[in-house]
Order: sequence, then structure tokens, then C-alpha cells
Amino acid sequence: MKEINSIGIVGAGQMGSGIAQVAAVSGYQVRLYDAFEGVAGKAVTRIGSTLEKLVSKGKMEQSACDAAVRAITVVNSLEEIAQSDLVVEAAVEKVELKKELFRQLDQLSPADTILASNTSSISLTEIASATRRPDKVIGMHFFNPAPVMKLLEVVKGYSTSQETIDVIMAIGEKMNKVTILAQDKAGFIVNRVLDPMLNEAIFLLEEGVGTAEDIDNGMKFGCNHPMGPLALTDLIGLDVLLAVMEVLYRETADSKYRPAPLLKKMVRAGKLGKKTGEGFFKY
Ligand code: CAA
Repeated sequence: MKEINSIGIVGAGQMGSGIAQVAAVSGYQVRLYDAFEGVAGKAVTRIGSTLEKLVSKGKMEQSACDAAVRAITVVNSLEEIAQSDLVVEAAVEKVELKKELFRQLDQLSPADTILASNTSSISLTEIASATRRPDKVIGMHFFNPAPVMKLLEVVKGYSTSQETIDVIMAIGEKMNKVTILAQDKAGFIVNRVLDPMLNEAIFLLEEGVGTAEDIDNGMKFGCNHPMGPLALTDLIGLDVLLAVMEVLYRETADSKYRPAPLLKKMVRAGKLGKKTGEGFFKY
């Protein structure tokens, strides 16, 4: 089985920086790249302060914190990312952008490099079609916040090989995640179940069935969810939820997956949740 020592991460936003933290704490050498200058550097600073907090709570040794921060190198090009044993793409959910990234990574990387995507909605088979190595293209779907959530959903594209799956499952275990395997179908496993529920909560709000607080409290205290569906949508990003719902709706042509009009309107207004300071709640 291919040995993985270094992981290159493309995209240093919420998910990319969370994945970088998980990888570094798990003993991998990490290269972190973001197309926007300064973003990756800021992510490393943020990871450093998160880990320092764990040290001050007595949950991490200072030496482990220092080693994890040292293990992350900010790089400024895809050429440098492509020197990694595994590349994990965590860029925005736009199919053409992802295909172009994978086309470039395929050209720049050694033939045996595995190319993974953290996509929550886009077909792995389609992403893989931009490369000459569809057997080595796979989904590594982390959950937000990646360092806290225990799950890694591994997604098999049409041509992904069993060997590639085995390598990624082993990495998931080394990262101390519970791994599940999903086939390449819209929403995979978790978002197929979760996102229609979040979308339904937005319909409830729009129809005036309850206030945002009451809808969230209903699910928190009636179903023991750690956060209400509207607060969770704010955490994930309204744009991310809309992207998944649009894929589910388009792929199935089933009206049960139609995105709530209020969700569309809020995305158009730039109210994307926590990351923009406002979604269903203010931050
Ligand atoms: N790194 C390491 N540890 C972290 C951390 C980080 N970045 N952020 C938080 N933590 C730790 C904290 O130290 C804390 O640890 P202790 O309890 O041991 O002190 C613990 O995580 C909980 O953090 P907080 O106390 O700050 O907050 P909380 O108890 O309110 O929990 C939460 C926050 C983990 C987000 C919780 O509310 C939760 O589980 N919410 C649901 C999240 C969820 O469902 N995510 C999946 C979204 S779907 C998705 O991501 C897929 C997609 O494609 C859309």
C-alpha cells in the first residue's frame, strides 16, 4: 500500500484549515495553499492559537502543539502542493473550478499521487474525468468543524480503485476518525439525510410556523441535536447548503429536494452565516 507522509491541502478556508490541523496533529507533513494571498498564513496562525487553547486546557502537550504547527508549511503554488504524497482539495464548491484544479494537479503530480476532494456535493466521477488517473481520485469528506467531528466520509467515484480506498481509510484511522464508504450519488450518505432536514427548517421559518429560536430549540431539546438546524446552517454556510440542495434537486428531479426560496434569497443577499457575520442569526 502506498505510504503517505505528506499531505498537500488546496484551500485554507474553514474546511481546508481544519483538515490541515487534523493532518498536522496526526503526524503528517502538511503543505497548505490558498489562491488568495495571505489566507493560508492566517489559517496557520489560527490553528496555532486553537492548539494553544487545547494546551492551556491540559488536553494537549506543548511539545505536540509546537510539532503540529511546525509540520505545516505555507506554499505559494500548486507545483509545491503537487510534491505531496496525497493532495486534498478544499476549494469552493464550483464544479468547473474543481475540474481545472484537478487537471493541473494531475499534470504536476507524480503518477502515483492520490488526488482527493473534500467536496460535499460535486460528483467525484465528474471531477476525476478531468484527470488521467480516475482510479486515484477519491472523496475525503470531512465535517465542520473538522478537528472536532469524528466522521470521515470516503466517497468512491466510478473508477476509484480499491487500493486508493484502502489508503484513504488507513489515513482516516490514523487521524482518529470513524470512516464510512459512500458511492458517488448526490449528497453521498450524510448530506442526503442532513441537508433536506436543514432545508425543511428554512421552509418552516419562511412559512412562519415558528421563530428561528423556536425551530432551533425544537430540534435541540426535542431531538438532542447539539445545535439547531438554523444555527448549523449558519455554521456550514448557507451557500454550501444551497449548493448541495441544488445538486440533489438537479440530479434527482425530485421536488422534495427543492431549495427553500428563503435560502436562495439569503445567499443572493450575501448572508452566508457565521463566515459573513450574519445568517439566520447574527455573529
Ligand atoms: N480544534 C480542536 N478542538 C476544538 C476545535 C478545534 N478547531 N473547536 C472546538 N474544539 C473543541 C473544544 O475545545 C471543546 O472541547 P471540550 O468540550 O473538551 O472542552 C469541544 O471541541 C466543543 O467545543 P465548544 O465548547 O467550543 O462548543 P460546543 O460544545 O458548543 O460544540 C460543536 C460545538 C462541536 C460545533 C457542536 O455544537 C456540534 O457538534 N455541532 C454540530 C456540528 C455538525 O453537525 N457538523 C456537521 C455539519 S455538516 C458538514 O460539515 C458537512 C457538509 O458537507 C455540509
